[in-house]
Amino acid sequence: WPFHAPYISAINKLKKERGAVILAHNYQTPEIFHGVADIRGDSLQLAIEAARSDADLIIQCGVHFMAETSKILCPDKTVLIPDSSAGCSLASSITAADVRALRDQYPGVPIITYVNTSADVKAECDICCTSSNAVEIVEGLGVDRVLLVPDQYLAKNVAAQTDVEVLTFAGSCEVHERFTADEIRSYRRSMPDVQVIAHPECPPEVVAEADFSGSTKGMIDWVKTNNPEKVMMITECSMADNVASETPDVNFVRPCNLCPHMKKITLPKILDSLLYMQEEVTVDPLVADKARRAVERMINLKS
Ligand code: 13P
Ligand code: SF4
Repeated sequence: WPFHAPYISAINKLKKERGAVILAHNYQTPEIFHGVADIRGDSLQLAIEAARSDADLIIQCGVHFMAETSKILCPDKTVLIPDSSAGCSLASSITAADVRALRDQYPGVPIITYVNTSADVKAECDICCTSSNAVEIVEGLGVDRVLLVPDQYLAKNVAAQTDVEVLTFAGSCEVHERFTADEIRSYRRSMPDVQVIAHPECPPEVVAEADFSGSTKGMIDWVKTNNPEKVMMITECSMADNVASETPDVNFVRPCNLCPHMKKITLPKILDSLLYMQEEVTVDPLVADKARRAVERMINLKS
């Protein structure tokens, strides 16, 4: 990336001087993902790696809830996000008060929160999950009925894979809810040999049209393992861009949708973040203690 090269070398130099580690979600653009990230992955991998990291300074290239999760797991480290306005429609769909109301409405039913939520919401819930472990977490609790909030589509997709009754909330991902089953059927008609893989934040009728559904890591692993001639990744656009350089024989067919929040993170903002130590992510220590229990319970149940 000739245009990006000066930023990439300045960031990599400064990152070493500061002893920082750069975490990048799979939806970050290739110049960030391949150019400056030390650790790449889905939400679960980033949470685990943040906890394991020796570095005292974490630069989170992703959205705000991901940076908060790092801060919850590493309260003694400095966590910076290059643009703190990088939100998420799922995280903003539910508040701690909503969770308390659900507890009153469904006494005794465990509340699982998708990791795409604020620290306040995590603090009110019993355990977290990500798209890569949601079925295991739902089944691992050993009960007949759970609440899985806030993503109604993830919850319905999980419900289709288990005998546990999964109640949900009205949240959705503004990126994945835009895909339709009709559009996939029409692509299949014009390209019968295409393999379709979809993120579980897509509506169930979209997932039903897919050959595979999984977290962003699950989707990348599927492409690398199956090496399909032609694949359509029903998710955010940078996924195909990032995996394409590692799978030269695979032809990536669009559609894809951009996440406007993920795209707020850019190389110039990452450089500013390192230069000026901005923008620091803080979480109230009492909230962080309660939220940490939910995140650690997930990590422990999963491994
Ligand atoms: P993953 O955990 O699958 O990376 O998903 C995070 C996300 O925000 C998808 O929209
Ligand atoms: Fe949130 Fe959807 Fe963007 Fe993921 S893709 S960060 S769920 S808005």
